[in-house]
Amino acid sequence: MLQEITYLRVSVTDKCNLKCFYCRPDNSEFVPHEEILRYEEIARLVKAMTKYGLKKVRITGGEPLVRPQLEELVRMLREIPEIKDISLTTNGITLAKHAEELRKAGLDRLNISIDSLKPDLFYQITKGKLEDVLEGIKVSKELGYDPIKVNAVIVKGLNEDEALDFVEFGAEYGVEVRFIEMMPIGGELINWSEEKVKPLDEIKQKIEEKYGKLIPSISIGSGAARVYKVPKLNTKIGFITPMSNPFCDGCSKLRLTAEGHIKLCLRTDEEIDAKPVIRNGTDEELDRFIKKVLIEKEISNQKIIKSGYAFSDCRRIMTSIGG
Ligand code: 5AD
Repeated sequence: MLQEITYLRVSVTDKCNLKCFYCRPDNSEFVPHEEILRYEEIARLVKAMTKYGLKKVRITGGEPLVRPQLEELVRMLREIPEIKDISLTTNGITLAKHAEELRKAGLDRLNISIDSLKPDLFYQITKGKLEDVLEGIKVSKELGYDPIKVNAVIVKGLNEDEALDFVEFGAEYGVEVRFIEMMPIGGELINWSEEKVKPLDEIKQKIEEKYGKLIPSISIGSGAARVYKVPKLNTKIGFITPMSNPFCDGCSKLRLTAEGHIKLCLRTDEEIDAKPVIRNGTDEELDRFIKKVLIEKEISNQKIIKSGYAFSDCRRIMTSIGG
């Protein structure tokens, strides 16, 4: 029997208004406009995938808020009754402006990327203003987004000393912080090296030294993260450890790139072009296509587990995948 696919990440653009060194090299080329999937086309695929268990959709980019009228897509997804959870991953730079229209359209949850709580270092990493992101979080809290998660990619020697500050920030702002290990995605373009990976076990230990033993917990929509409650502080944190402790077994996640390719896994460049069948296929052809994708996903997943969770051939840069 085919494994269900419960979770689809949809990249709506490969453009971004920031330039994080581990994600988007300066001179990346963009997919031409006509190659990008229309919102109706994305919704058509999502609807067709619900037959195979799809329940959760996450909208990503690039930076998804740079695509005009994103609330139209949210509205279309909200009209699909099988879709129970719609979330957005954003860098938060223009969130204060868009949070309300997206909420009204039916967006449930937000993940916001912040890699440093020091304005100078934040600028050095992203070329953006931390203040704008914090404003976006405040506005979103008031609008009732719950939970709001904050993603922090921890890079050795760069921001690892901010772990405790992030925990306190989570408690203060009422957000759940997710620490993430830096992955070698984008090949040489992002200058990844083993030395930049901070095993998050070490961060966890440091947090426990200050706040006491973390209590295993759960959170809405947390596929990849190991989530804990922090004693003494009313907050949850999570660890995403693709490098030191992979979580590929039973993975039921797919990614759709902005130009309509289905990416089977972050650890490989293997992808299947869905655009022809979404644009021109009949419902039956689309259904047959999805079945084929599910089989390919299973084969790819087995291959990756057998390889010892290697990242092979990951030349596609993160900004065209969306995390
Ligand atoms: N390693 C780990 N996380 C990454 N992200 C982007 N590039 C990388 C990488 N090379 C994260 C972003 C964002 C999420 C979508 O993916 O920081 O939080």
